[in-house]
Amino acid sequence: MKNKYSLLAYFSNIFLFLSLNMSAQTGESWQAPRETVEKLSKSGSEFNYYEEKVPAYTLPDVLANSSGQKITTSKEWTKIRRQEVLELFGENVFGRVPSTSYTKTFAVVNEDKNAMGGSATLKQVDITIQSEGKSLVIHLILFIPNNALKPVPAFLLINLGSRTIDPTRKEKNEWWPAEEIVARGYAAAAFSNSDVDPDNFDDFKNGIHGLLDRGVRPPNAWGTISAWAWGASRCMDYLETDKDINKKKVAVVGHSRGGKTALWAGAQDLRFSIVISNESGCGGAALARRRYGETVARINTAFPHWFCSNYKKYSDNENAMPVDMHMLLALIAPRALYVDCADEDLWGDPKGSYLSLYNALPVFQLLKASSGIPVTMPPLNKQVISGKVAFHIRDGAHNLLLKDWNWFMDFADQVWK
Ligand code: GCU
Repeated sequence: MKNKYSLLAYFSNIFLFLSLNMSAQTGESWQAPRETVEKLSKSGSEFNYYEEKVPAYTLPDVLANSSGQKITTSKEWTKIRRQEVLELFGENVFGRVPSTSYTKTFAVVNEDKNAMGGSATLKQVDITIQSEGKSLVIHLILFIPNNALKPVPAFLLINLGSRTIDPTRKEKNEWWPAEEIVARGYAAAAFSNSDVDPDNFDDFKNGIHGLLDRGVRPPNAWGTISAWAWGASRCMDYLETDKDINKKKVAVVGHSRGGKTALWAGAQDLRFSIVISNESGCGGAALARRRYGETVARINTAFPHWFCSNYKKYSDNENAMPVDMHMLLALIAPRALYVDCADEDLWGDPKGSYLSLYNALPVFQLLKASSGIPVTMPPLNKQVISGKVAFHIRDGAHNLLLKDWNWFMDFADQVWK
């Protein structure tokens, strides 16, 4: 009996394997692999991974202003609606940066013109922020290709403190493939989020909050993601001053919590010409109202410091949100936006991320930045580009890999050509 069942399981696995591979080859639209859905549903049963259980929802209209009037021109978007949407995200999701004054200095603490075996110049820049006798340093690492025509475009990675961005290059990884970035003629820049704000909940005593927050924090006070995004902008402040860098061509890149950060940084800071959100999931690219994989309630409980306290109002109450994440993506337009996901990372809702991008398109179209992408997702490992908008879903697990970076750089080649 046992053998009969294992034989059955064996053949059904082969069938599943063949059909998945065939669908990749025949170019069928990606769907969450059933096996992964079942596996995840068993291990985290309070979260939904079944497409058929996604609740019905209506997204807020990104192109209708607060009094319900339709936005029909690029001028109305830029002057009225863009500002409204930005305010809504500041007030309800990421929180607002306080207006406390501070000073900022840049110091190149190490320069090596012969880095990476002579192919790059390494600059290590200390960005020091000071306010009322306290200070904090953001350590920016920058590799500039020696053989490229200056100024060069750059990729700025919001590194997660737990990963290595080794300036000596003794330790290399696909996460930050600085050599490969340099080989393609781009500068590779990175800083660690933990320099700006440690990734733990301590009631906002440490990091930049400890430096710039004064008095009682209001419910719309900036959370940690907002602080990291602020840090990315301080790195941009430096990049703007570096004559080797083309300040009109800087991409901001982040993975997962860093991807949420990249989106919020890019939404606010118009100096980023490309925004790349790698597997950013809930609170990033994925539509909250789908409640697929991670939910607003879960993220607010597990990471109480990431967003502003107002965001907690939407735990298990997504339909009350005045925004959804397609509106965050729309804030990047008409600059370039890359959203990508991974096949096994259903926690981050790949389909919800794609639909979010799809629903942001009216703004990219209004601003003549894209002609549109299909409503159905592309096949696995197939990049879709339409003007300033790009997407892919990679095979494998939640991570940032060289494969992803190569697609990002292909997109940048087109956008920055
Ligand atoms: C957790 C979290 C996600 C986040 C991820 C990451 O899984 O729930 O929202 O994106 O960590 O940053 O790696």
